[in-house]
Amino acid sequence: PGEREENETHKGLRVADQGFLNTAVLRSQITYIDGDAGVLRYRGYPIEQLALHSSHLETAYLLIYGSLPTKSQYEVWSNEIAQHSIVHADAEQFFRSFRYDAHPMAILTSAFAYLGSYYQEANPSLQGQNLYTKGDPASLAVMDKQIYRLIGKATTLAAMAYRVRQGREFVTPPTGMSYTGSFLYQMDYLGQENYKPNPVLEKALDVLFLLHADHEMNASASSVLQVGSSLVDPFSAVAAGCASLYGPLHGGANEAVIRMLISIGKPENVPAFIEAVKKREKVLSGFGHRVYKTSDPRSFLVRKTADEVFRIAGKDQLLETAMALHDAAMKDDYFVSRKLAPNVDFWFVFVMLHSHFSLMFIQERSNLSCDGFPERLLPGALRRTAGCWMVGTLAAGVQMMLQSGGVKIWRPRQIYVGSGRRDYVRIDDRE
Ligand code: ACO
Repeated sequence: PGEREENETHKGLRVADQGFLNTAVLRSQITYIDGDAGVLRYRGYPIEQLALHSSHLETAYLLIYGSLPTKSQYEVWSNEIAQHSIVHADAEQFFRSFRYDAHPMAILTSAFAYLGSYYQEANPSLQGQNLYTKGDPASLAVMDKQIYRLIGKATTLAAMAYRVRQGREFVTPPTGMSYTGSFLYQMDYLGQENYKPNPVLEKALDVLFLLHADHEMNASASSVLQVGSSLVDPFSAVAAGCASLYGPLHGGANEAVIRMLISIGKPENVPAFIEAVKKREKVLSGFGHRVYKTSDPRSFLVRKTADEVFRIAGKDQLLETAMALHDAAMKDDYFVSRKLAPNVDFWFVFVMLHSHFSLMFIQERSNLSCDGFPERLLPGALRRTAGCWMVGTLAAGVQMMLQSGGVKIWRPRQIYVGSGRRDYVRIDDRE
């Protein structure tokens, strides 16, 4: 409900919509969500069909350019992304300047801003003009190049943020691998001859990337657009989105899920945890959503994908705990009455944990104690960020520029509820 402000400072009607529960900030042709019916479509295509038949990179093209690519369009697109995946060797020094235990999302956020300092052609302040001038094909080509760079380098930067924490050498993006395969390679390669990521994990992670590619005005995408609306370079705008994604109520939720499961420890402890949530002492991470009030369609698809991974990786106590927690919450009136169901992050963590390592890791995994996990999971939100969520924000950004005929700076207002006019009192005269 809006709140009407009537005081001496502001005239007219202004509506307070805290948390943007009912404010649409633009018209979009990209993503359709029906939160009550649990429907998600990209450019009209149901997410279920895309998850089954498409790939992350093909879906990225769809989101950004509006239609599925032909074979030749796809070839050009994937080649451009691959070619732009390499980062300059100077960046290694930048990555090594972080503390050994810096959070990878903090590193990644900074890394996007770092790229902004690198590509001056994308910086309207330095160029003295906007990145895109309506009707000018040359400026469209400049924009495309930034899109290739952002999507191509995102996985490289994410892998570098991961490896620097491990004290490992950086790995140059390999040739001849899929987008997601290349990411896994850059994360996990340890000098093994002819190393290739496990295909089941590669496929699973690719589906997850695709499912996260866009979600209309979520906190991170709208942060990108808000910052981008000042016409700053796209790398800086994406850094803002990355910072937003870091938070535990958003992309950081998958990290929170795993910490929660580790703290619960085993299925027998689930009832006590549920009671603590109901007393508001704890939050059930990975449950609830601002838009989906019945079910999150991505959650089913992630669960299906996770099942593929469990088939090769087996089950362990962490997974048994997650299943017990899921089943208990879905039966409990507290969650049912508030329409709280698993969101995309709940099962996501399991695919993430497994795809984090090579098959060798999976063989070892059954011997790991839960204590082994937090350190390994930290790049969780990072993995999510890498090139997937960004696609949607780029698509929306491009659309904002092209379709509205120009950008209007996002400058919301507030309802002032502070004191009336007061006169300044010098410090010696204050009580
Ligand atoms: N655990 C326990 N209670 C919850 C949870 C939860 N995960 N989520 C919502 N609730 C409760 C609230 O306390 C509130 O109860 P009340 O009406 O008695 O006060 C009611 O359900 C409604 O919740 P809101 O906070 O109004 O929901 P909102 O739309 O503002 O928040 C959010 C959505 C942030 C996702 C919330 O559900 C949450 O914090 N979930 C846990 C974090 C998480 O999983 N985030 C990932 C979201 S998906 C993504 O970003 C990719």
